[in-house]
Amino acid sequence: MDHPCVQHKLAIIRDVETGHKRFRELATEITKFLCYEALQNIPTKDITVTTPVGEAKARKIATDLVVVPILRAGVGMLDGILELVPTARVGFVGLFRDEATKQPMTYYERFPPQIKGGTCFVVDPMVATGGSTVAALDLLKTNGADNIVVICIVTCPEGLARVNEAHPDVAVYTAAIDERLDERKYIVPGLGDAGDRLFGTPH
Ligand code: PRP
Ligand code: URA
Repeated sequence: MDHPCVQHKLAIIRDVETGHKRFRELATEITKFLCYEALQNIPTKDITVTTPVGEAKARKIATDLVVVPILRAGVGMLDGILELVPTARVGFVGLFRDEATKQPMTYYERFPPQIKGGTCFVVDPMVATGGSTVAALDLLKTNGADNIVVICIVTCPEGLARVNEAHPDVAVYTAAIDERLDERKYIVPGLGDAGDRLFGTPH
C-alpha cells in the first residue's frame, strides 16, 4: 500500500530508535489502513433504509468477519482491525519459528465456527520465509475456511512467492515488499523482530 500516510508511519516503525510503546501504536495505525483496503472486496448486500426524509438505497456488509492473529506478533495488529470492524470474531493460531530450523511450530489453535462461510483475515506483521503464514492458512483451510485474506506490515519476494505457491487463492495486503531475507531469515531491511519490538522483550 503506497499511500503517503502508510509510508510515513512505516518509516517510523522501521526506525531502530522507535521504542515498544510507539511501535505498538504504529502497528495499530498501519493495520487500520491495510484493513480498510482489504475490506474493499468483501461481500455486501443492497438494502433500503428509511431516513427521516425518504427511502435510501444502501449497502451493508454481508459476511461474517473473522480475524486470526498469528501469535504472538499478530496480536499487535488485532486492535487496529477491531477498531474498524468491532463485530468481527477472533480466532488464534499459535506459531513460533524455530530459530534453528526456521520451521513454524504450532502450539495453539482456536477458531470460531464462522470461519466456514465467513471472510477470514490472517494477521501477522511479518511474512518472511512465508512458512508461518502457509502453516496458518493450512490450519484454517483444514478447519473449513475458504475465503481468506492475509494482512502483514512487511514482506519480501521469497515469502510472497511461497504463500502464493501454496495458496494462490489468498490475497496478501502489505505496506512494503522489501528486498530479501538475510542468512538468519530476517527481512532486509525489514523492522527487526516484530514480536520483541511490540512487546518489549529482548532479542
Ligand atoms: C515471526 C513473525 C511471523 C514469523 C515470520 O514470529 O511474527 O509469525 O516470524 O517468519 P516466517 O515467514 O519465516 O515464518 P516468531 O516466530 O518470531 O514468533 P513470535 O511472534 O512469537 O515472536
Ligand atoms: N520474524 C520477524 O519478526 N522479523 C523478521 O524479519 C523475520 C521473521
